[in-house]
Amino acid sequence: MELQIPKGTFDLLPYGADEPWKQIFLWQKLEEILRKLCQEYGYQEIRTPIYERTELFTRGVGDTSDIVTKEMFSFEDKGGRSLTLRPEATASTMRSFIENRLANLGGVHKLFYIGPMFRHERPQSGRYRQFHQFGIEAIGARVPEQDAEVIDLLYQLVQRLGLKNLKVRLNSVGDVQSREAFRDAFLSYLTPHLKALSEESRERFEKNPLRILDSKNPQDREIVAKGPSILHYLSSEAKAYFQAVCQALDLISIPYEIDDKIVRGLDYYNHTVFEVTTENLGAQNAIGGGGRYDGLIGQFGGPDLPGVGFAVGLERLIQVMIAQNIAPKETLPPTLYFIPMGQEEKARAHCFSAATLCRHHHISAAVEFQAKKIPAAIQNATRTGASYIAIMGSDELKKGVIQLKHLVDREQREILLDQLIPVLKEMLYA
Ligand code: HAM
Repeated sequence: MELQIPKGTFDLLPYGADEPWKQIFLWQKLEEILRKLCQEYGYQEIRTPIYERTELFTRGVGDTSDIVTKEMFSFEDKGGRSLTLRPEATASTMRSFIENRLANLGGVHKLFYIGPMFRHERPQSGRYRQFHQFGIEAIGARVPEQDAEVIDLLYQLVQRLGLKNLKVRLNSVGDVQSREAFRDAFLSYLTPHLKALSEESRERFEKNPLRILDSKNPQDREIVAKGPSILHYLSSEAKAYFQAVCQALDLISIPYEIDDKIVRGLDYYNHTVFEVTTENLGAQNAIGGGGRYDGLIGQFGGPDLPGVGFAVGLERLIQVMIAQNIAPKETLPPTLYFIPMGQEEKARAHCFSAATLCRHHHISAAVEFQAKKIPAAIQNATRTGASYIAIMGSDELKKGVIQLKHLVDREQREILLDQLIPVLKEMLYA
């Protein structure tokens, strides 16, 4: 076909999806769970535009990060301004927080978002160019319990979904002083190994050496594993904060593993960083990740407020649920599917008015407008998830009734048309 979906994107469909994770009901159920979870933890929804000024991301995410250097969908608007489809939503949320002066309202601000993000990456299973994130941001508190609350919300999410084989990996990238001390030690360690590093890591050596820590290349990993640990270079203040976060997590019994190689791909992090990974996703093993970003709001010209948050990829969550056989089943409200025999005009009009009456009484109903033969109509009814069919032909018209048949247990009963609503209400919702 000439008009194809762009590479790295996908459709979510009510039926006919080519892969199970593209069934829309799974997304709707997941979103319901996410909203309920946020409500229980006191996080409120924020919706920002899907594009922002490019500068927001170059300054926020970092101009040496992969996202900014390689992956942004940027374009010029008619006024010559550079805009970018958001590759993530932390920067947008901070922009909105500052611009709407939410800080003036005082207290800690706990926000969440669900929506599409865009990164020009090489598409592969679990990696798309338009993907969806659920994320939370807690702004205003720099206490270890706040970090632990954010991690707990993520852990609670994966627990509620029933996901297995998961790991919470935790690290600290300290403050600027800690990172500078580590950077020097790390660069001296790496210098004699430079030739053995992958091309990508050699590039990072110049621009953003800390990112070499989370290289996926096996040889890089071997070299890095024998190198210095950032945890040994934390300033005393950063070290104490990290210990306190660990204690807060222990207090609420969140299992975690300390992994001193986690640095994350966005430049705004300091102190706590974390990821949740699974064995069921192949190379793209991170379901979600986040950390603390004290200083980001100030750097954007806002008040000097701290923040901590995370984001998860919804595609990955759903794919893992399917791989682990724990995806929910579709549940539909009882729906009546009216079938006028042979599309006869009078029968069709009666079906249409009966279905309309049902809908006006909050009973889901549909009418077959196309198929002339009953088997084809029943097939359509089944595809759309109807539970009952209501057939109307000339006999039914004469008698002023419909034949109602349950599609699964095949039970059939005749209902007087002028009794339709009370009988249905009694039958469906009694
Ligand atoms: P991130 O690690 O870049 O963090 O993305 C979070 C999650 O989004 C990843 O773990 C992954 O599940 C999903 N994801 C990222 N890129 C793709 C892709 N191309 N295809 C499918 N899924 C993808 C952030 O975005 C930070 N803003 C998180 C955060 C919030 N930190 C503090 N607050």
